[in-house]
Amino acid sequence: MGNLEGKVAIVTGAGSVDSGAGAGDAISILYARQGASVVLFDIDAVKAQRTLDAIESEGGKAVIFEGDVTIASDCEKAVKTAVEQFGGVHVLVNNVAIIAPGTVVDVTEEDWDKVFAVNVKSMMLMSKYCIPEMIKAGGGSIINFSSNEGLRGQDWLPVVAYSTSKGAAITLTASMAVQHGKDNVRVNCIAPGMMYTPMIAPHISDEVRDLRRRGAPLGVEGNAWDVANAAAFLASDDARWITGVTLPVDGGLLATQSLSLVNRFIE
Ligand SMILES: NC(=O)c1ccc[n+]([C@@H]2O[C@H](COP(=O)([O-])OP(=O)(O)OC[C@H]3O[C@@H](n4cnc5c(N)ncnc54)[C@H](O)[C@@H]3O)[C@@H](O)[C@H]2O)c1
Repeated sequence: MGNLEGKVAIVTGAGSVDSGAGAGDAISILYARQGASVVLFDIDAVKAQRTLDAIESEGGKAVIFEGDVTIASDCEKAVKTAVEQFGGVHVLVNNVAIIAPGTVVDVTEEDWDKVFAVNVKSMMLMSKYCIPEMIKAGGGSIINFSSNEGLRGQDWLPVVAYSTSKGAAITLTASMAVQHGKDNVRVNCIAPGMMYTPMIAPHISDEVRDLRRRGAPLGVEGNAWDVANAAAFLASDDARWITGVTLPVDGGLLATQSLSLVNRFIE
């Protein structure tokens, strides 16, 4: 028996360029391994198919829902799919996110709005349709995705719209946790550090990849499975008394401060 036996989960951004390489597909694969039935919500059915193939090859249960998390009717249909195919919804992972370049001076207004629609509005829309189903099921667990960038400023790769959207995810988590505690719906947030995934790979050189690894106290590169393990715990009944929390999964990055880098970068 897995820790998520009998649960139905919806994971947004469940596809990836390679099996287990992005957080969305690693979480989906791990949830299925632990006994959950998973709705794989992605805008790109080809990417979601890779996740489905990985799950089915291990004997797990999942279906693809192809749609756009910024469109309310797609979010509503994704939830209906979970109810029709698997009988309800217990877990929602608001994983999907996009990045756009720029400081406030050079980010375009169009990019700003798109980043907020995909990264933040989608969390509201998915939760709007999932929470009534979770209440029918006696409770549920929602996991929102922030980032270390939602808690700290950075200038090595200015992506101010993304960073601000990740700050919003933390505030949204607190509000939802407080407003839906009475419904036994737990709402928590994961703030990954500088993990290496296909979303980040095109934006960084090998040298920057190495700096990202060494910048955190553990000095070990994080990957999608590190985040998936945290998401599996928060989804499970082992976390039944945990809500409103933002959990850094970052090799200790947020615990450190800039002068500590001296010890890690100067031999
Ligand atoms: N990669 C990092 O270093 C890092 C660091 C901190 C936080 N995070 C956060 O972790 C989460 C997962 O990141 P990841 O890099 O593993 O990405 P991922 O590979 O899990 O997710 C990307 C998926 O989202 C899908 N998608 C994009 N737009 C969509 C839309 N409108 N509707 C539906 N699906 C859509 C894509 O097709 C892709 O399959 C994100 O919230 C990200 O902000 C990542």
